[in-house]
Amino acid sequence: MCGIVGYSGAQDAAPILLEGLKKLEYRGYDSAGIAVLNGNSITVSKVTGRIANLCEKTADGKNCPGTVGIGHTRWATHGAPTDTNAHPHLSNDGKFAVVHNGIVENYMSLREELIEKGYRFESQTDTEVIVHLIEMYYVGDLKKAVIKTSARLQGSYALGVVCTEEPQNVYVVRESSPLILGVGVGENYFASDVTALVSYTRNAIYLEDGEFAKITPDSITVFDPAGQPIQKKISRITWDIQSAEKGGYEHFMLKEIVEQPRAIKATIAPRIKDSEIVLDETELTADYLRSIHKIVITACGSAYYAGCAGKYAIEHLCHIPVQVELASELRYSNPLIDEHTLLIVLSQSGETADTIAAMKECKKRGAKTLAIVNVVGSTIAKTADETLYTWAGPEIAVATTKGYTTQLAVLYLFALYAAKKMNRLDDETYGKLLETLITLPKRIQETLDMNSAIPNLAKKYHTTGSMFFIGRNTDYAIALEGALKMKEISYIHAESYAAGELKHGTIALIDEHQPVIALCCNDSVMEKTMSNIVEVKARGAEVLAVTFKENQKIVSLADDVIFIPKVETIFSAAVEIIPLQLLAYYVAKENGCDIDKPKNLAKSVTVE
Ligand code: AGP
Repeated sequence: MCGIVGYSGAQDAAPILLEGLKKLEYRGYDSAGIAVLNGNSITVSKVTGRIANLCEKTADGKNCPGTVGIGHTRWATHGAPTDTNAHPHLSNDGKFAVVHNGIVENYMSLREELIEKGYRFESQTDTEVIVHLIEMYYVGDLKKAVIKTSARLQGSYALGVVCTEEPQNVYVVRESSPLILGVGVGENYFASDVTALVSYTRNAIYLEDGEFAKITPDSITVFDPAGQPIQKKISRITWDIQSAEKGGYEHFMLKEIVEQPRAIKATIAPRIKDSEIVLDETELTADYLRSIHKIVITACGSAYYAGCAGKYAIEHLCHIPVQVELASELRYSNPLIDEHTLLIVLSQSGETADTIAAMKECKKRGAKTLAIVNVVGSTIAKTADETLYTWAGPEIAVATTKGYTTQLAVLYLFALYAAKKMNRLDDETYGKLLETLITLPKRIQETLDMNSAIPNLAKKYHTTGSMFFIGRNTDYAIALEGALKMKEISYIHAESYAAGELKHGTIALIDEHQPVIALCCNDSVMEKTMSNIVEVKARGAEVLAVTFKENQKIVSLADDVIFIPKVETIFSAAVEIIPLQLLAYYVAKENGCDIDKPKNLAKSVTVE
């Protein structure tokens, strides 16, 4: 939920920290700060609001001289977004500064203990206990103080620590929060994710939970929780700098919408060899797949909605029951899961706290776990038994677009692959469906090309205070995601409803002030949804329908129509969502919203 960075080298640290924070700003953006070591003092600069304010306050870092430092961009959990609650936090003696991403669950009791011992607290944050613990445990050796402090903390934390007594060193610790070390020449770095590192180095070390490291200009030493040095592999970062930048687009979200054909191709193409789906990154054998009794999909937010759409494809092709569960519910539901359950975990970031907890709970009960994740080396990828990466590249906009559609792409691949292995599909149907899957990027490109009218539709619909998204079956799964997109970036209330359910109460809300977005891309229920369009029209609603271009019948029913190319129903969600992403984007733009960083949200939800 927050982003942290650090640097130890020969250059001025502050500009490097600020650049890194700009890249991490999507993780949290209510306040920010840096601490730079300069001889035997620490200069701390903190502001409420965006990194731009911090750049202004520090004159782009010029006011904070020094070559070693740490930085933080915050999504408030404990304490309001104020200058005082912003990180870094300083010890009472001014010798230590700490940045923290995560939550210290036992901070209340630690705070009481520290207050009793005479430590003075400035902020309402959970983090401040960490810096006072370090001060308390420091007896001339920062490494020992870090070990002792970590042993007292419960919860999740990625930490960066500096100390005036060791002016070249930065210590970092990882426990259930992401942290990556960047290996340079004569300078080294750390950050919450690789986007903050790629401008400086492509060599990275991924820490495991419990590990910590000492970073100096010339070395990185990684330790196990007991403090023993360990050897770590240096991995190559493959994401390029451009993919983490806007590249001429006004917003990351628009850039990422437009990137979807490429992202889906990158996700699907390498897994097809000689007209067969090959998932050799996993050990999902025919014997194993035939042994399972059900599949449970778990995730949060849009990833959960991708699961809702994926369920149709898997059930239809594999003839196996699929349950889709919100991770925040599943983790506390005492789930009926055993070794005959395959748990599919969906997450763009791979760091979502509820999803990680649900996965661990199901693993404990014997389920095999298959993660579908975008971020290489993330917690979910590392914890799962099997991982299939979505090759979407970095997704910066808080509202997911290519992250969601590439999750669909992997679910479709899995559905076809498993159906074949389980002998639930004849060769001819398999071949035809595979062909459809391969052409999905093209269909998405056509959808993008044929929808130049959406900015004008946004001008018509942007003033409404509320709207409904309706559909049945696969169309309902898309209604869920379409409404979420609209809500999170335009702040317009949007409700998704199974079209057949309207008459059971909700239709009472329908009038001329409630535009209805009707999704009609599933042949098996299209006529039914069209009847629902007639019903809401009769109550005064304006209707904007999304349908295949072949369905001209709808033109006389709806007020406005967005056409998309015809796609096999089980895979249609990946195409159908495109106009809804664009509609949400242009409505939010009409309303002057901060599209890439919507209020109250953060990209990576690492708290419960
Ligand atoms: C979607 O636009 C949201 N940003 C949010 O619902 C997101 O999908 C959810 O928090 C799950 O994130 P994850 O995929 O990184 O686990």
